[in-house]
Amino acid sequence: MASITGKRGGPGENRWRSRRPWARIEAMSQWEIEREIKAYYELGGERERLKSSAGGRLEFIRVQELLRRVLPGTGLDVLDVGGATGVHAEWLAADGHKVTLVDPVASQVAVAAELPGVEAKLGDARALPCEDASFDAVLLMGPLYHLTEREHRVRALREARRVARPGAVVAAVTINRTAGWSDWLLWNAEGTVHSISAAESLRVLREGDLRFFDHDIFTTAYLHHPGDVAEEFAAAGMAGPAQYAVQGFPGYMPELRAIIDDEEAREHLLEGLRVIESEPSLLGASNHLLTVARVPS
Ligand SMILES: C[S@@+](CC[C@H](N)C(=O)[O-])C[C@H]1O[C@@H](n2cnc3c(N)ncnc32)[C@H](O)[C@@H]1O
Repeated sequence: MASITGKRGGPGENRWRSRRPWARIEAMSQWEIEREIKAYYELGGERERLKSSAGGRLEFIRVQELLRRVLPGTGLDVLDVGGATGVHAEWLAADGHKVTLVDPVASQVAVAAELPGVEAKLGDARALPCEDASFDAVLLMGPLYHLTEREHRVRALREARRVARPGAVVAAVTINRTAGWSDWLLWNAEGTVHSISAAESLRVLREGDLRFFDHDIFTTAYLHHPGDVAEEFAAAGMAGPAQYAVQGFPGYMPELRAIIDDEEAREHLLEGLRVIESEPSLLGASNHLLTVARVPS
């Protein structure tokens, strides 16, 4: 269970840390993410995840398009919480925003810190290392699905609201409840080897919490229904957010790579997604969901 633990690590752990360049910043963190989540991201997969697979490329294109549309202006102070190695921070900085990235995995923060125009800090969404009212946009693209307890997710949203200026945007990506089950059906049909059983994939569909210790697919996460995300925003003082399906149901098509690789087919897909992205009956039929609120002025 995620918890407040105070300073981490005994003498043995410190010896291990001291061989790594990011050891000093890691020791400053006061919140712990679950071990398996940390171990998963320490494998380094986030550097390539959105560049290699067809699904990753569609996610990147759509998140970029949606964020460019909802960000409230140019030259903004943007906080990217759970920003990993900076896959979004990089283009946001290139677009002219002043980007601060916060992530609890020190090896990822070290990579992001090398990006031009990006300040990267070790930290946790539940206790952001940032001043009150200091950002025009706060992005949570990771924390809400890795915090498996509602209380912690609402806390992270309250923190986002605390550091956001009046009129700022708070935008969160979540994983839809149907995503694990849909992926399972596809993996099984393709014969992809994975460690989640059919019964477990149905339990996750019913209950939402994915406990994943084998790193062959993903790690521990909470999978939301869209209405639950909106309710958590409301509990953090941001009622009535807008919601957008990121990939939509076409993201699950086995032929996705052929569509993404072909310019005309890709544009046709993207235009269709713009048409259906906020249709309430389709919000949950998408791997990811983007929820966006304006902080009251
Ligand atoms: C799948 S990655 C997403 C990276 C990037 N934001 C994106 O959208 O592609 C999830 C990220 O959330 C981070 N994360 C997990 N728990 C967190 C927490 N409690 N606070 C902040 N970030 C967290 C992980 O370290 C990881 O970098």
